Amino acid sequence: MVSPWHARHPRTPEVGPLAGHADVVVVGAGLTGLTTALLLARAGRAVTVIEARQLGAGTTGGSTAKVSVLQGTRLSSIARKQPHDLVQAYADANLEGQAWLRRFCDDHGVEVEQRDAYTFAWSGHGADQVREEVRVARSVGLPVTWVDDPGLPFATAGAAHLPDQAQVDPIGVLEALAAEAERHGVRLVEGHRVQSVDGRRPLRVRSDLGEMTADVVVLATGMPILDRGGFFARMTAQRSYGLALRTDGPAVPAMYLSADEPSRSLRDGDGGSALLVGGAGHPTGRAASPAEHLQALREWTAEHYPDAEETHAWSAQDYVPARELPFAGPIVPGQGRLLVTGGYAKWGMTNAVAAALAITGRLTGGHQTWARAFAPWRHELRGAPSAVGTNVEVGARLVGGWVRPLLAGSPELEEGDGVVRYDGVGTPVARSRVGGVEESVSAVCTHLGGVVRWNDAERSWDCPLHGSRFAVDGAVLEGAATCGLTRKQ
Ligand SMILES: Cc1cc2nc3c(=O)[nH]c(=O)nc-3n(C[C@H](O)[C@H](O)[C@H](O)COP(=O)(O)OP(=O)(O)OC[C@H]3O[C@@H](n4cnc5c(N)ncnc54)[C@H](O)[C@@H]3O)c2cc1C
Ligand code: FES
Repeated sequence: MVSPWHARHPRTPEVGPLAGHADVVVVGAGLTGLTTALLLARAGRAVTVIEARQLGAGTTGGSTAKVSVLQGTRLSSIARKQPHDLVQAYADANLEGQAWLRRFCDDHGVEVEQRDAYTFAWSGHGADQVREEVRVARSVGLPVTWVDDPGLPFATAGAAHLPDQAQVDPIGVLEALAAEAERHGVRLVEGHRVQSVDGRRPLRVRSDLGEMTADVVVLATGMPILDRGGFFARMTAQRSYGLALRTDGPAVPAMYLSADEPSRSLRDGDGGSALLVGGAGHPTGRAASPAEHLQALREWTAEHYPDAEETHAWSAQDYVPARELPFAGPIVPGQGRLLVTGGYAKWGMTNAVAAALAITGRLTGGHQTWARAFAPWRHELRGAPSAVGTNVEVGARLVGGWVRPLLAGSPELEEGDGVVRYDGVGTPVARSRVGGVEESVSAVCTHLGGVVRWNDAERSWDCPLHGSRFAVDGAVLEGAATCGLTRKQ
């Protein structure tokens, strides 16, 4: 499964060496990492970006890339858990992130399509949620209004509307950021998965293929890869699906997201001749059959857009924080040289840029009043009850994952199957058959011991605890894990 952006910008990176010293190492070449690298290089810092796979391989390359400050019902969700001044700071941060990205794209020849944004409701209950979003958005100064008809070809129960938002090709943006960053002296090293950051002054950054040192390290990996700080326990990995379709006429006139279920996201692409549909999400590793989720999205799309022809199907995940606010700051209180970013809850096109601006401000002595919305440690207690709920669920999944293999037999594998069973010494083993090749790897996630589950849509092993994902040969695909699953005979 490949997103239209990756299809449009194929890339085979050369794996360069990792050695020497940088003022700042940024781990991760997504929107957060590349924006941070560029901003710091412009401020005179020597920066190296280390990327496990290739530029855009993570969430950014699977984004629907709406650059919008109307974000579903995000503001009202934050307002339920955080005080008004932080909702205001979050809105201000996103306006700043949006403005920076639009300016960057304008200055560097990256196409930005201006579109209105809508959050629509399917039901009366959804309409109540949308009205609440309108109220909170207006309370922080956004000109969001209620409309009865958002202009969709199916019935809705009304919508929130914000004009003059934007959409982009996210890999196009990353390529421009990387080119500009390299022009300012940034070294981009792809194909190195960072496995540890140790030491004091300087910090030693080790990948699977080399080592270098840095005064400061920024982990811009979506889910922070080091367990210090326990960010994995405060976020849920949410996987969702996307379809790109060729249409005869203009696809949709604006950008849309539903407030209630079924969750559906719509935008156009290719200057109006493509339709992008997203949704059918679930927590990573917790769906019995991800393929059924993808199928549900296909059926819904065929019902409402019968003449559209599918060109791409893909999937990606983002991390939803228990306290609702994103973070950009020290991995543990007082540790100013090892910084983390993330928790954008599927709204990173503005939040990632804001996080990069906040990190740069912190390292260069700048000050943004809105950056308090991104302080990782200051508002933790307000999120504590939801974080407890997140971890009760994780605990149940941990136990269930270890018990489940006892409950069934050992069937022969058909093409595309994957099963977890105990081997002779009581360790769960993940067996799969893909392309006629059978593979056996340890089923125990190398992050913190969750038992992985088969993803029948993407033919991968996904961990239900914190969302790490592995290929059939055990290699890490994404998430907090830094080492692959051990191969078994
Ligand atoms: C289906 C979907 C649709 C979305 N649509 C929208 C939208 O319309 N609008 C919006 O605003 N947001 C959207 N988002 C969210 C947005 O795309 C993300 O929040 C944003 O792209 C995150 O950027 P990032 O740079 O923080 O992370 P990523 O893009 O994931 O970058 C992290 C990088 O770190 C690398 N990495 C990880 N571990 C290591 C390691 N150990 N060593 C080296 N490198 C490592 C990864 O390979 C990856 O390239 C969507 C998300 C999803 C899942
Ligand atoms: S991702 Fe944490 S245990 Fe698997």
